Amino acid sequence: MLGQKLKLIKLLSTKDLQNVHFKCSIEEIEFFFYKDSKKFIEDNYCQLYYLYEKKKATIIGYFTISMGSIRYEKDIPIEKYVERIPCALIGQLGVHESHEREGWGTDIVKDAISIIVKLSQRIGCRIISVDSLVTLNAIRFYLSLGFNFTDIKLGNLIINQLKDQKRPTKNSVKMYLDLKKIKK
Ligand SMILES: CC(C)(COP(=O)(O)OP(=O)(O)OC[C@H]1O[C@@H](n2cnc3c(N)ncnc32)[C@H](O)[C@@H]1OP(=O)(O)O)[C@@H](O)C(=O)NCCC(=O)NCCS
Repeated sequence: MLGQKLKLIKLLSTKDLQNVHFKCSIEEIEFFFYKDSKKFIEDNYCQLYYLYEKKKATIIGYFTISMGSIRYEKDIPIEKYVERIPCALIGQLGVHESHEREGWGTDIVKDAISIIVKLSQRIGCRIISVDSLVTLNAIRFYLSLGFNFTDIKLGNLIINQLKDQKRPTKNSVKMYLDLKKIKK
């Protein structure tokens, strides 16, 4: 536990990622941070935000945000005006493996929600969408923050497969948070 509150920082230059330390229990998320983030950010495919612990030059956690849209599914109770629902996509969410389960992930996603709520007052954006990794940790984490499956039957099937230690058929599962519900 760090016993302190850290402020979310928006990455301004990929040079800032040099000489910092980040280790994630999911290799792909660590790989994106050190390798792919550079081209994604420079080509405006996402913005990256992180929490930084200065004393140890450690990234406590990070995520990306991009604009997107998702198809209506029968389990998304939102009025259908157009073919797809405008959304902001949170991606690559990762907390440093030595700091998991200390509440940082929750802090980070709450900060992301605030950024997106502000954005939605200027640009139409109805939901936040995530492609959660198919692990009980990740799914329970998003459920704890009020996200739901876009396909509830599929989501429950995946949870049961994971609980029974069966190999799920998918690597990711789509979940969403309706901004209209949290703005009130
Ligand atoms: C998933 C992840 C982002 C959660 O961040 P975190 O800082 O560890 O989570 P928090 O401490 O804020 O946990 C909040 C709640 O999520 C749920 N949760 C988080 N980790 C969990 C776990 N391992 N098992 C069960 N529930 C878990 C719990 O409800 C928890 O609340 P509680 O501790 O009061 O029970 C982090 O563990 C991580 O980076 N994992 C590897 C990468 C990953 O899975 N990314 C997300 C999917 S794309």
